[in-house]
Amino acid sequence: LKGQYPHFMLKEIHEQPEAITDTIWSLATLDPPALYFDDLGSAGDRLAAVERVVLLGMGTSLHAAMIGQRYIEAFAGLPAAADNASEFRYRDPVLDDRTLVISVSQSGETVDVLEAMAVARRAGALQVTVCNTEGAQTTRVADGTVYTRAGLERGVASTKCFTTALVALYLLALRIAQAKGRLSEEALASHLHDLAQLPRAAADVLRRRDQIRKRAVALAAAQHVLFLGRGLAFPVAMEGALKLKEVSYIHAEGYAAGEMKHGPIALIEPTFPTVAIATQHALRSKMISNIEQIQARGGPVTGVITEGDAELTALCDAVITVPAVSSWLEPVAAVIPLQLLAYDVAVHRGCDVDQPRNLAKTVTVE
Ligand code: F6R
Repeated sequence: LKGQYPHFMLKEIHEQPEAITDTIWSLATLDPPALYFDDLGSAGDRLAAVERVVLLGMGTSLHAAMIGQRYIEAFAGLPAAADNASEFRYRDPVLDDRTLVISVSQSGETVDVLEAMAVARRAGALQVTVCNTEGAQTTRVADGTVYTRAGLERGVASTKCFTTALVALYLLALRIAQAKGRLSEEALASHLHDLAQLPRAAADVLRRRDQIRKRAVALAAAQHVLFLGRGLAFPVAMEGALKLKEVSYIHAEGYAAGEMKHGPIALIEPTFPTVAIATQHALRSKMISNIEQIQARGGPVTGVITEGDAELTALCDAVITVPAVSSWLEPVAAVIPLQLLAYDVAVHRGCDVDQPRNLAKTVTVE
């Protein structure tokens, strides 16, 4: 089943170009540029009336939801907020029938997500779920479903379900924008063109394994690793830290880089490495200041940067390069090396990558 791969996690990381391709073209066509959401059901007709969006998930799916929030704000122009389902379910969230609740869950069976959906249902909110499992419980509760086409994911650490959820959320944000009359044909064509480049970029990252392996050997001895990002790269930093801690048992934290001066910079010293996600996004110059501030305190920095970025290559102590993609899709390109990094560190430390201690693939009890 694992074929040429020693672990499911590595196999699933390598399946991403194909999984991304399948997910894009199950929801859209390039010629003519069009979106097809066959499983949205009655939710499709109600999207035009939506005034606000809440996105829910846990763990890796929450990180996808955080990026989905930014897509919806930017493309559909609606207020949007991502929330942890286990917190949401125990609050008194303000919702109504003009609120769209998007739950993200690869399994569709996560108990906190299902309970949060029950809260949303009682409030009369419209619900769409982004799910990788045909007929799962979230798809039965929601008014409509957007399926990711990642195929079965067996590794406990979620990889291909994360990147395909990003693709699904990107397209769903465009579908909401369309329903709100905010998406021109030219803009749709341009977004689909950007998406069409993504599988090749993902495959390109996978061919850069050697530079990642080298970094993994260096990081495998660390006791703590800090992941930093801004904008779309902030949830990527959270995801990079989650991947590393769950499979390698190294303590890792993901932070919004702007938080550094509000506390975390006190931790920086030569034995505390930072991974800074500093691809070509609009906040790259702010990331450069963060990197300089960390280095001034003796902290070694590995940059995840866009290839050809000479300034950052010179600045960082080491770099992992990714190919240039549209800035909205940088999370997909930037997270793949972090998945590989976590995998390589864990293997180097002799950890059971596919079955990390204390973890279950699907969390059906609190
Ligand atoms: C991390 C991981 C978990 C899941 C979380 C939600 O690698 O796999 O954090 O993302 O348990 O699971 P789903 O998406 O099935 O709701």
